[in-house]
Amino acid sequence: MSPLDNYKLSASILASNFRNISEEIKNLKNYGCDEIHYDVMDGNFVDEISMGPVIFKSIEDLIELPVEIHLMVSNPRKNIEQFSELNVETITFHYESTKNHDSLINLIKSKGIRVGVALNPLTEIEKLHDFIEKIDRVLLMSVDPGFSGQKFNPNTPQKIKILKDYLDNLNLSKNIDICVDGGINNSNIKQCKDAGANVFVSGSSIFWNGNIKSNIMSLMSSLGNKK
Ligand code: DX5
Ligand code: ZN
Repeated sequence: MSPLDNYKLSASILASNFRNISEEIKNLKNYGCDEIHYDVMDGNFVDEISMGPVIFKSIEDLIELPVEIHLMVSNPRKNIEQFSELNVETITFHYESTKNHDSLINLIKSKGIRVGVALNPLTEIEKLHDFIEKIDRVLLMSVDPGFSGQKFNPNTPQKIKILKDYLDNLNLSKNIDICVDGGINNSNIKQCKDAGANVFVSGSSIFWNGNIKSNIMSLMSSLGNKK
């Protein structure tokens, strides 16, 4: 079965409570999440500093799901080298963080890891044209990258649709994930799915208010038929 036969809910653990991280991560799989989304920020590409490979190593044994590393850093090559030694499925770097897209794509592939390229809200889909057939995922930011809990950019569904149509025309929709990250909640997740996204990253809607299990169930029911 192709990995794209399913819609995937990806939990951004940046929004979890690190004081209680083992409890918060423990049941994500049982509750229906499909992936862990791990946000790396360097205080340069974005203002915030979040977590890197050292923290990843300390929580690695708690993780039961495939991991996407989302690199919001100015020197992605260094982090790609570090994370590729760890148990991760996908490494996503920002289009805006480098001029050497091909070389980073080749580096990630050479490690046997899936490649994602992230686009900030104002970066056009056309920027992907030179290397689209070489990657496994496009991560469309629906907020300016930097922290959890921001408001969803309402132009996102239209951008998802442009990407979906582009991939359909190239016959690549089956091979490339369209992933949306930032401000995903019960009121916009279905809109993103209808526009063509198949992976939905969520931080604050899963971890911040109420109970993690019911938050996940409610996102899944807003998504509609998940699988
Ligand atoms: C923002 C990060 C996101 C963030 C998602 O820069 O890339 O992954 O943690 O959190 P929410 O869903 O709260 O926007
Ligand atoms: Zn992210």
